[in-house]
Amino acid sequence: MSEAPVGVFDSGVGGLSVLREIRARLPHEPLLYVADSGHVPYGEKTPEFIRERSQKIAEFLFEQGAKALVLACNTATAAAVADLRERYPQVPIVGMEPAVKPAAAATRSGVVGVLATTGTLKSAKFAALLDRFANDVRVVTQPCPGLVEQIEAGELATPRTRDLLRGWVEPLLAEGCDTLILGCTHYPFIRPLLRELVPESVSLVDTGAAVARHLQSLLDQHGLRAQGPAGSPRFWSSADPVQLQRVLPLLWGEALPAEALPGKSA
Ligand code: DGL
Repeated sequence: MSEAPVGVFDSGVGGLSVLREIRARLPHEPLLYVADSGHVPYGEKTPEFIRERSQKIAEFLFEQGAKALVLACNTATAAAVADLRERYPQVPIVGMEPAVKPAAAATRSGVVGVLATTGTLKSAKFAALLDRFANDVRVVTQPCPGLVEQIEAGELATPRTRDLLRGWVEPLLAEGCDTLILGCTHYPFIRPLLRELVPESVSLVDTGAAVARHLQSLLDQHGLRAQGPAGSPRFWSSADPVQLQRVLPLLWGEALPAEALPGKSA
């Protein structure tokens, strides 16, 4: 059972930023990844829709033998992690949320900016996160509609991506933010571009590495750590798998095959 794979999913390719952290920290774990790119972006969908998709994808990953589940998506976590934990109480399930706690601890100006999807920013989970950790700082939120689509297309540094990003980041800097939270798993892929647009004194924080650490401790608690060696991850997409295959060298760092998510899950 401990040699079984860890199942990871996102609305699209964003979760690959988390998968990279998991592979770096837990190189012996076999990994499965589903990109729900046929339904991206989640950020503009209803919580009900996202719960239904998450449910189908979780079932698919369990059919493939997954011993644990990672929601490599802030938006899906806000909408669906409670429901999944209730349905599968025996399974270690890791979700993720914007890094408000570390950002609140790190800021010196006392103003923190959050770049995330509309769905995450509107969620009750995000409101609770602010309530809990952001009492002593001012938090300025910024939805980024259209950015996920640019990243899905592999447009990490094109003029259009740069223009979009500049339009969101400049008002945050004008508000005095010295810490920016990348509150969507797609956004670490445009970190180099973001770095060019903000002064060096501004910190950029995301939660990919923390998710990998949390997964490690849950696997340890359940006695589920694999001894390896693990092969390459298996990838599925609910859109055209050729599109996923095309961006894997850029976003995963290796050319690997991707399969179509079968039947009822797609
Ligand atoms: N990658 C996702 C997140 O972390 C959502 C992107 C989207 O589909 O809108 O929030």
